[in-house]
Amino acid sequence: MTMPTLDARLEAVLGLICTDVHADIGSDHARLPVRLVREGRVRRCIAVELNPGPLEQARRSVARSRLEAQIEVREGDGFGPILPGEVGSASLCGMGAHTIRRILERAGERLPSVLIVQPNDSALLLRLWAWAAGYHVCAEHLIVGYWPYPVLRLDRASGPDPAYEGLSLDAALKYGPLLLRAGGEALVQQIRDDIVRLQKVAAPGRESWQELETAKTALAATSSGIK
Ligand SMILES: C[S@@+](CC[C@H](N)C(=O)[O-])C[C@H]1O[C@@H](n2cnc3c(N)ncnc32)[C@H](O)[C@@H]1O
Repeated sequence: MTMPTLDARLEAVLGLICTDVHADIGSDHARLPVRLVREGRVRRCIAVELNPGPLEQARRSVARSRLEAQIEVREGDGFGPILPGEVGSASLCGMGAHTIRRILERAGERLPSVLIVQPNDSALLLRLWAWAAGYHVCAEHLIVGYWPYPVLRLDRASGPDPAYEGLSLDAALKYGPLLLRAGGEALVQQIRDDIVRLQKVAAPGRESWQELETAKTALAATSSGIK
């Protein structure tokens, strides 16, 4: 039985998924669907791929794992190949935040109530999208890899997101409300790196000045002990 290894960011994603049917959008090597099924975290998985090379790779990986009955590989763009109500959750990992947001914006009624997103850059755009689209930030990790990778679980919910309560909105949208409350080493290092970079270019009236203020506010929040 093959049990593909996952890097740390996909291990973090794996730990946030537990449902009946899951969709992995932009699945490529399809390692995540294979592990999800093997570990019983989902009963079935739909792996969606847009591009021919990764699509072929996903099909080969599923065939190698002999999980064709539980993992279906579908060709298509974003949520296009998913029917409304067909899946309980979806993951979108290893892409830029702009790409992920565009996929989410086009999904309409195909969007499930639980989303796990892992952009390769800042998650700011995705937190803004979630805020406007009625999803709450329910879990957040910052995984140290080639870059610091944010991993977020977003759950559809009504009302204002309690994760942001008592925090500076700018700082929490940029650095993550739950990450700020946790104040972990990786986040503190990321904020300190931002401050050093921004101090070199910031001047009153420039966007970088505001970014520097946001970073300083975020650093203060991590040490204030706010939970
Ligand atoms: C860098 S890979 C990440 C693979 C895997 N999710 C991971 O995190 O390791 C991104 C994949 O998303 C696919 N992709 C990009 N845009 C897509 C879209 N709109 N719909 C489906 N797949 C897409 C690409 O073809 C590529 O295989």
